[in-house]
Amino acid sequence: MNTGVPFMLNPNQALNDLAAEARKSLQDKLKVEASLVAAAPGRVNLIGEHIDYCDGFVLPLAIERYVVFAARPNDSQIARIATEGQETVEIDLSTEQAISDVKWSNYLRGVIKGFQDLNYRIPGFDACIVSSVPLGAGLSSSAALECSFATLLEGLVDTVLATRDKALLAQKAEHDFAKVPCGIMDQFASAYGKENHLILIDCRSGNSELVPFSDPSLSIVVANTNVSHDLSDGGYAARRKATEDALAMIGKKSWRDVTMDDVLIHEKEMGNVMFRRARHVVSEIARTIEAVESFKNNDFSKIGPLMAGSHRSLNHDFEVSCDELDLMVEIANEIGFEGGVLGARMTGGGFGGSTVTLCRTQDASKIAETLHQRYLEKTGITPLIFATRPALGAHLLS
Ligand code: GLA
Repeated sequence: MNTGVPFMLNPNQALNDLAAEARKSLQDKLKVEASLVAAAPGRVNLIGEHIDYCDGFVLPLAIERYVVFAARPNDSQIARIATEGQETVEIDLSTEQAISDVKWSNYLRGVIKGFQDLNYRIPGFDACIVSSVPLGAGLSSSAALECSFATLLEGLVDTVLATRDKALLAQKAEHDFAKVPCGIMDQFASAYGKENHLILIDCRSGNSELVPFSDPSLSIVVANTNVSHDLSDGGYAARRKATEDALAMIGKKSWRDVTMDDVLIHEKEMGNVMFRRARHVVSEIARTIEAVESFKNNDFSKIGPLMAGSHRSLNHDFEVSCDELDLMVEIANEIGFEGGVLGARMTGGGFGGSTVTLCRTQDASKIAETLHQRYLEKTGITPLIFATRPALGAHLLS
């Protein structure tokens, strides 16, 4: 959707234009005309951070930024896949997939392996990828890549997987081939996305529910700080491990059964760091439940404080924020309710990446401009800022 906001840098490219670009790219690079086009979006999370791997609740939405594949079967057993700035990869589909030295291709190999495990025989094909999901911005470009590719493979083998199975297959690809022990939020958001809806995911049961977000007077502004700190690789796995150790110490099977009293009782035993990690999990689950109630009741007065509480907890207790994220959130808070900001926080895995600001649509352009200018002034880094509405999840384009 064109947000019509004049200031937005890199305004969202309409999906149809992106699809046309993918078709053209396939023609230019591999001299083939596309017979199939698949797309899957990135995501931004409104609240419920770092608790998808703790049986928590999360509330993301798919964004109007996509990874698109254009492809055509090639009568062989080889997949030839091209994308801008990378060497074209050739994958032998007749052999069981294994991790390759060409890092980016592992997401694809992992998804192919998922289909092989389900006993599908994938015919050879040529494909080209284009993307409008910024890389390393905490907006799930890898989940979008996996889900888009899984959707393409569905088309190639002429099947439709259950949405949940497709998301789980994509998550397994990320675990086994990219070696990132992620939760389920990103792949679920990319697979289940729906226009005008947030996606409430119960990460214990694996059930999801669409929560209406149709009021046109509300907008979501995403601000990519354009920093990505090195820590991110080990940092994510370390946080996940800390929550597992804390749960074991508390002696319960699921974080959903843990109360703040349980955490407080074990404070000494856990030590300060683990105690704060645990406090984040329990408090963030509670904030997310409250935020969902507020959205369902169209009561937006509580969202701001809940988002602020989430950011503080991620910064102080979970320690996954950074100066640039804190600054972007601080600028949004300075603009405040008067200026149209309802709430702001970091979003995604952290250690850099993006913030999410819930705001009044009529002020979105001005808010984006202020975020851009003040952030640039203070850091010397040009951020990437855009507005989005909830978008449709992974699908084949006709
Ligand atoms: C990354 C992971 C998700 C989730 C978020 C933090 O995006 O892929 O599973 O854990 O971080 O909420």
